[in-house]
Amino acid sequence: MILAKEFNRNHFARDSDLTISTNTPQPPTIVQFGANSPLELARASSLVAPSVGGVDLNCGCPQSWACAETLGAALMEKRELVRDMVVETRERLRQDGWAVGKDKDKDSPAGRSVSVKIRVHHDLRKTMDFIDTVLGHDQDRHIDFLTIHPRTRNTPSSIPINLEALEILTSAYGDRVPILLSGDVFAMNALPFTSPLLNIEKTNGFNAETPQRPVLPKLAGLMSARAILANPALYAGYDACPWEAVETFMISAARAPLPFKLTLHHVSQMCAPGMGPNKSALLTKPDRAALMACTNMCDLIDFLDEKKGLRREG
Ligand SMILES: Cc1cc2nc3c(=O)[nH]c(=O)nc-3n(C[C@H](O)[C@H](O)[C@H](O)COP(=O)(O)O)c2cc1C
Repeated sequence: MILAKEFNRNHFARDSDLTISTNTPQPPTIVQFGANSPLELARASSLVAPSVGGVDLNCGCPQSWACAETLGAALMEKRELVRDMVVETRERLRQDGWAVGKDKDKDSPAGRSVSVKIRVHHDLRKTMDFIDTVLGHDQDRHIDFLTIHPRTRNTPSSIPINLEALEILTSAYGDRVPILLSGDVFAMNALPFTSPLLNIEKTNGFNAETPQRPVLPKLAGLMSARAILANPALYAGYDACPWEAVETFMISAARAPLPFKLTLHHVSQMCAPGMGPNKSALLTKPDRAALMACTNMCDLIDFLDEKKGLRREG
């Protein structure tokens, strides 16, 4: 989440919050903003649109500082404001010359998406009122897609996602807007539901003894946070992080202006046990402690080379 107001006003904030590689082609990138004003979100979106594929509005961050500023999950009580923010942003991008025609423009090089990420309320009717308002008319809805994190603002992430809420919301709205799930996507072979989207039965080891899982026929996509930090190869079907992922990351990190501490943090996450049922780890606990003692990129590369012969020819 990038704070739109600061991003608009301060070039140090812009430099530190968003760096895009000049190598092409780049994978699609969605920038997510924290905002509570239509003008701020529209301006920040206008600034990033040349560099990214879309903008998202955070209506899910539960942190107290964010909610105190009417950002993140506090916006779940401000559905008209959220609607106004996405409407103004879409209009601003349209005026700037971007193709904001949703599905019709998704393959256009000028195509840009406007989306929203939400949590749910204790009373799901409030969430439905929120979605009705933010979605607008079916013929010309206000958002390209919706990401649902099926926990309330007060539910800790140690509690499993509310699958019943997700079932209800995807069946009520899944034909009207693409819905992505955020929450407990830990391993492709251990999702707590099935969906034709995932072709799950072919890709994992579920069998007749696997407990009955709900079917989500209208789910359009997945978002992972904690698990993909530990295992960036998750969507390639790996249930634990392979060394190849660490190597790929190190090659990219060596070419990018990533602060060393961030690089080290990512590598330590990848070398620790992941979030899924497979708890194997690339490094033992003592080795991970030794990893954290690396103080510069050369140390880190040498350490990883020693541990797994990561050095590449040339
Ligand atoms: C380190 C970290 C940073 C996060 N940052 C954001 C963020 O900037 N915006 C957002 O909408 N959610 C953010 N989240 C929440 C996740 O998107 C997600 O909704 C939540 O962690 C549940 O998904 P998970 O089970 O895949 O972790 C973050 C989560 C983690 C662990």
